[in-house]
Amino acid sequence: MTTIAHLTDFHLLEADHDRRRGAERWRLRYLSFGRPIDAAQRRRRTLAALVEAWRTGADHLVLTGDLTEDGTPAQFEVLAAVLAESGWDPARVTLVPGNHDAYTDGAWERALEGCLRPFAATSGQGTAIALPGAVLAAVSTAMMQPVTRSAGAIAARELSWIASLAAETRRSGDALVLAQHHPPLRHPIGAMQWLDGLINSAELMALLHEHDHLHVIHGHTHRDHDAPVRSGAPPRIFCAQALVDGPSPLRLYRVRCGRLLSERARVRSGASAFALA
Ligand SMILES: [Fe+2]
Ligand SMILES: [Fe+2]
Repeated sequence: MTTIAHLTDFHLLEADHDRRRGAERWRLRYLSFGRPIDAAQRRRRTLAALVEAWRTGADHLVLTGDLTEDGTPAQFEVLAAVLAESGWDPARVTLVPGNHDAYTDGAWERALEGCLRPFAATSGQGTAIALPGAVLAAVSTAMMQPVTRSAGAIAARELSWIASLAAETRRSGDALVLAQHHPPLRHPIGAMQWLDGLINSAELMALLHEHDHLHVIHGHTHRDHDAPVRSGAPPRIFCAQALVDGPSPLRLYRVRCGRLLSERARVRSGASAFALA
């Protein structure tokens, strides 16, 4: 039975961010507003969560964006180093970018060709990973925008690709799981949808209504949350608490009969400390 682990929103910092001056310094203060700008603490927390996820024995790990604070090459180097230290085989890890990872033009793409290259085969845009009973698709919602906006969008050709995958997996009986940063549900406040939401959420929601085997694992909202596509139905949209904010953000999902089911980690003592509840 396939188990997927999920972590999100690391907001990693470079160790020497104190050297920043001028606009770069203010940009970091703006983006980290309300949180301590503590590079070592964020790195420690990230490593601990990655190791915790690894100890569950999950088949695959999904990291749903905002992995860095403002997407600088130095921050992607920190991400690569902490992933290497965690013990996860890159072939079993999928990374997708968040809005924070795209605030430095082209840095995410360059990182996937550079320090994150071991993860490119399972993380590049348009990547689908076949797992027993499920297909996991890496979906980018990253778009160029100023740091004062935090919206996302899925490219039209990627939406077409998702529609094709949904049709294929419907025939095969596999669950289709989209790993992406922004939630597919519209923001309840209209103006916030433009500022902070997924711009083409209506197209993705239409696919979710059409295909009951389609699921979304996302980040961005920073809170642990499950949502159904239809009122009263089982949840098919899942978000984990932001790692930068919370002490126990790990989520686990189990694939069963073409569906993704949420599981909760149960802590025991010792090295094999985590089991599926
Ligand atoms: Fe975030
Ligand atoms: Fe975000």
